[in-house]
Amino acid sequence: MPDRGFTHTQLAARAAYLLRGNDLGTMTSAAPKLYPHMWSWDAAFVAVGLAPLSVERAVVELDTLLSAQWRNGMIPHIVFASGVDGYFPGPARWACTDLAAAAPRGPQTSGITQPPVHAIAVQRILDHSRRHGRTTRAVAEEFLDRRWPDLVRWHRWLARARDLDGNGRIALYHGWESGMDNSPRWDAAYANVVAGAVPTFRREDLAHVGDASQRPTDAEYARYLWLLEEMKEVRYDDDALATAMSFAVEDVFVTAVFALACEVLAVIGEEHSCPNADVRELHEYADRFRRGVLDTTDPRTGAAKDFDLRSGRWMATDTIAMFAPLLCGGLPPGTERTLVRTFEGPKFCGHPDLRYAVPPSTSPVSRDFRPREYWRGPVWPVMTWLFSWTFARRGWAERAHLLRAEGLRQASDGSFAEYYEPFTGEPLGSMQQSWTAAAVLDWLG
Ligand code: GLC
Repeated sequence: MPDRGFTHTQLAARAAYLLRGNDLGTMTSAAPKLYPHMWSWDAAFVAVGLAPLSVERAVVELDTLLSAQWRNGMIPHIVFASGVDGYFPGPARWACTDLAAAAPRGPQTSGITQPPVHAIAVQRILDHSRRHGRTTRAVAEEFLDRRWPDLVRWHRWLARARDLDGNGRIALYHGWESGMDNSPRWDAAYANVVAGAVPTFRREDLAHVGDASQRPTDAEYARYLWLLEEMKEVRYDDDALATAMSFAVEDVFVTAVFALACEVLAVIGEEHSCPNADVRELHEYADRFRRGVLDTTDPRTGAAKDFDLRSGRWMATDTIAMFAPLLCGGLPPGTERTLVRTFEGPKFCGHPDLRYAVPPSTSPVSRDFRPREYWRGPVWPVMTWLFSWTFARRGWAERAHLLRAEGLRQASDGSFAEYYEPFTGEPLGSMQQSWTAAAVLDWLG
């Protein structure tokens, strides 16, 4: 039952209304003011939320994103809505159309990528289409036929351009690529980034979120922007980035998401008679990257860690990323049980002071924990959704159900906030965030 505020029926209606309001025509903005464009992993989650409302509209969302895919296969982290200002860094600052040989000529995009959750959205679209008549099913199938090669190219780009040494871990050249911009996971790697002079800028985010303590600091921002200059210097060339960037990490969470997505896409491919060679390749990626995740884990606790390619050091943090192996599977059963106990125990979801039993982005007992600051502590509903969906897929029905129930209790305030203060449940960051509404719609769908 809802904690307070809205009933499930009201909540679903409001979530649908929110997505309609954020709909710019063929793309849904990540949030009305703070993020007035399309973000890559947001778009995938948004498609998950649209699928129960309209399979056709969900397909349009992914089509728009894939129409901005780079020629090398990369799905860019932002597709800019044409004629919309109010976000920095915008297309002029990235300058991809001018500098990057692989950038699309039509839509304007950023020059980095984001976590590869898209196969999950494709699966949800196909699931929902089966509940409809022939015409809707045909829309979903036609989409899959048409976009299958692009989805495979996307996965192939990650496996080739971002795992140069073949160790089964995805390299990132900007913290934004992790989707967890200022997580303590990246503190050590950013500490070694010496920001040179960057062209002047004005942060737009602070104009929309009045309380600066909920956002990354100016010092963090200066480094974020410096990395853009480093990328522009080498014209976003895949091979050159590997040596040019002063920030380079192997992200264990993105790697686990990738292993999972490869598995999901391979199964879709099998069910829809897609080319055997592609399906085989995807299974191979799933195995290789799952192994890559497992190689980072602590044999006793099962916790996973990131790696700093520049300093050559492992970076173990008490953040949700330590649970990466629960997403892709593969731990020995005993170790997996230990890791699940940590997830559900007092370090995370079971912390006695939490308002809702959902995973905070950083453990409340970690010294890095800051309850209001973006990825340094708050609960991100879309992450709760990802874990609940994965747990259901892995056959852990009860755990999945519990996360869903607690996630819905949190969402029943109706703000659809970007993130929440874990102890008080106060909604923070942007309100009316599309992917928060999408998570709710899938839970209630
Ligand atoms: C923030 C988040 C990122 C998300 C984007 C749009 O930058 O850190 O994960 O994709 O906002 O919602």
